[in-house]
Amino acid sequence: MKTVAIISRKGGAGKTTLTVHLAVAACIDGKETAIIDLDPQASAAGWGDSRKQETPAVVSAQAARLPKVLEAAVNNGADLAIIDTAPHSETAALAAIRAADLILIPCRPAILDLRAIGDTIDLVNLASKTAIVVLNAVPPRGSLADEAVEAIAPLGVSIAPIRIGQRAAFVHSLTAGQTAQEYEPEGKAAEEIQQVYKWMCKQLIM
Ligand SMILES: Nc1ncnc2c1ncn2[C@@H]1O[C@H](COP(=O)(O)OP(=O)(O)OP(=O)(O)O)[C@@H](O)[C@H]1O
Ligand SMILES: [Mg+2]
Repeated sequence: MKTVAIISRKGGAGKTTLTVHLAVAACIDGKETAIIDLDPQASAAGWGDSRKQETPAVVSAQAARLPKVLEAAVNNGADLAIIDTAPHSETAALAAIRAADLILIPCRPAILDLRAIGDTIDLVNLASKTAIVVLNAVPPRGSLADEAVEAIAPLGVSIAPIRIGQRAAFVHSLTAGQTAQEYEPEGKAAEEIQQVYKWMCKQLIM
């Protein structure tokens, strides 16, 4: 089983959105997938409750239980576990980082998010791991994303080649217990997630 941690110490960066979308992309690809929600606010778990589909499996857990929960996922035949984390719990983020084969940091191309990203990278460095930034909610026009790439470059962390746009389908789909791929399969949001998913599989060699 491969494990992906989605972390960002900045609230609202898109951790839960990225978690559930990548998990559904993996399910569509025929992978047994589990979401492990370490956020006490349980947004991903709540989304899971509101779904009609049985997959992906969504488990709400505390950081101290993470190794046991991952072990259970392996025993249940999971191919992929994606861990969603809270912005303000260093302990939970560190547990997720330590357990992960791949660490993704969603980041909006906005000044406050870019200022905060150093804190997230510090956590990753503390665990002697490397992470990749995924630019999220990129506006359709303007140079914000390019400016973000320039601002992130000196921090010594790589940036995923695919950017996720600011799109209504990412918001509306979740309200219906779905993701963009299910809500608007032919839409641009679904297309972007598919590309990020394929890129993620390459990173994980799966
Ligand atoms: N690409 C996007 N396009 C449009 N809206 C987005 C996008 N990504 C996230 N959002 C919206 O931004 C808000 C925050 O996203 P999300 O809940 O995924 O962030 P988070 O990092 O999990 O937040 P928290 O730190 O509170 O857990 C949500 O309302 C979500 O629908
Ligand atoms: Mg969240």
